[in-house]
Amino acid sequence: MPSTDFGERVAGALTENVKVTCNRIVERKDLMPIPERAPIQSQAETSVGFADIGAVAFEHPDKCANILERIVEPYDPCRPDAAYSNAAMRAMEDYARSRIHQLRLPVRVHPKFSKLRNALAVIPYVAPMDQDSMLRQYPELRGLAKLLETCLARYPEILTGEVNPLSVLFPGGSVALVEAVYRDNPVTDYFNKVVGDIVANYIRLRSGQNTRIIEIGAGTGATTQFVLPAISTSNVTYLFTDLSFGFLNKAKVRFAHHKFVDYRVYNIEKRPEADHQFDIVIAANVLHATVDIRNALKNARDLLSPEGILVVNEFTSRQDYATLTFGLTEGWWLNADGQRIQHSALLTGEAWRSLIRGAGFYSVASHGNEDQQVIVAAASGNAASS
Ligand SMILES: C[S@@+](CC[C@H](N)C(=O)[O-])C[C@H]1O[C@@H](n2cnc3c(N)ncnc32)[C@H](O)[C@@H]1O
Repeated sequence: MPSTDFGERVAGALTENVKVTCNRIVERKDLMPIPERAPIQSQAETSVGFADIGAVAFEHPDKCANILERIVEPYDPCRPDAAYSNAAMRAMEDYARSRIHQLRLPVRVHPKFSKLRNALAVIPYVAPMDQDSMLRQYPELRGLAKLLETCLARYPEILTGEVNPLSVLFPGGSVALVEAVYRDNPVTDYFNKVVGDIVANYIRLRSGQNTRIIEIGAGTGATTQFVLPAISTSNVTYLFTDLSFGFLNKAKVRFAHHKFVDYRVYNIEKRPEADHQFDIVIAANVLHATVDIRNALKNARDLLSPEGILVVNEFTSRQDYATLTFGLTEGWWLNADGQRIQHSALLTGEAWRSLIRGAGFYSVASHGNEDQQVIVAAASGNAASS
C-alpha cells in the first residue's frame, strides 16, 4: 500500500498529471493523509442502515434499487490514490513507448512474432525519457521498469528466434521478475483494493449468510492479498485456483494464516464440474488470457449461485507496456474470438460489459477509467433487482 511519503509524491505527480484526469483542482491538503475507503452510502442506506439492508436485500430484492450500486463505489479520478495510480500508469506507458523507439530491431523477425511485429509498428513515438527521474517520481514502478529493460535488452535475439522469451521473462523458472507487474505497484494496488472492497461490501450485505468465493487465475496472489484481509466474518470459504499447479504451493505458504482458504487447479476454459457452487467469482487479469471470452464468461456464470456476482479486474485499453513484455509470449496472441482491441489481447470496458450481458448476466456495474476497470456483474435478478 502507499508508503508514508506517498502524499508528497502524489502532490508532485498531480501537479503535472492531475489536469489529465480531473476536472477540478486537487489541493495539497486534499492529498494527505490518504483516506481510507469509506463504506458506500446511498439514500436507501441512510433511511434503513447499511447492515439492515443486508438482512432484506436478498429476501426482498424489490426493496433495493440495485445491489450492484451498493457494492461498487463510483470511480473518482480525483481521489488521490486513483489519480496517483492513473498518473503512474501513464508515465510507465510513455516510458515504454519511448524505449522501444530507441531500439534497433531486426529487419526480419521469426514468423511466430508476426503479430507482435505488427503491434510494435503502431506504438506511437515518445521522445526519450529519463528512467531515474520517472522512478524518483514513482518509485513503485521500479519492478515494471526492470521487467521492461530485461526484455528490451534481449529483443533483437528474441525476435529473430535465437532466444526463448520465456527464459527472459521467467529466468530459471522464477516468477519474481513478472510478479512486479501485479504486486506492490500503485496501478495494480489501487484496483486490487477495489476488488477487496467490493467483496467486503457484498459479504456485509448478506448479513451472516455463508459466502463461497472462488478466485480464478489467482497466480501470485496479488489480488488475493487485498481480498483476504477484507473478509472479517467466519462464514466465508475461499477457493484459490489457477491453471498452473506451481502457484498453489506458494500461495498455501503465503496465505497459511487464512484458514478458510483452499487451493485447487482450475481452468476457466473448461466447464465447471458442478454448477452454482459459488457466490463470488473473482477473475483478475486472467479472462483476457483465454482463447474465447464468451466461453470463459459462460463458465464463470455457471459457477455462480443465483445471488452470485462476478468480479472482473482487467486493463481495458491497449497497453504498449504489456505488448512489449507479455506480448513476447505466444499465449498473449492465442485468442480467437474477434473481440480484442486491435494489436492487443485486451478488451475495452464496453466490450467487456456487452459480452458479460451476452453471457446471461443480469446487470453490470464498473469502477475505473478508460485504461483499467473492475467490472461487477450479477448472475441473476436475485442478486440485483432493478
Ligand atoms: C496475468 S496473471 C494474473 C494473476 C493474478 N490474478 C493477478 O492479477 O495478480 C494470469 C494468471 O492466470 C492464469 N491463467 C491463465 N489462463 C488460465 C485459465 N484458462 N484458467 C485459469 N487460470 C488461467 C495464469 O496461470 C496466471 O497465473
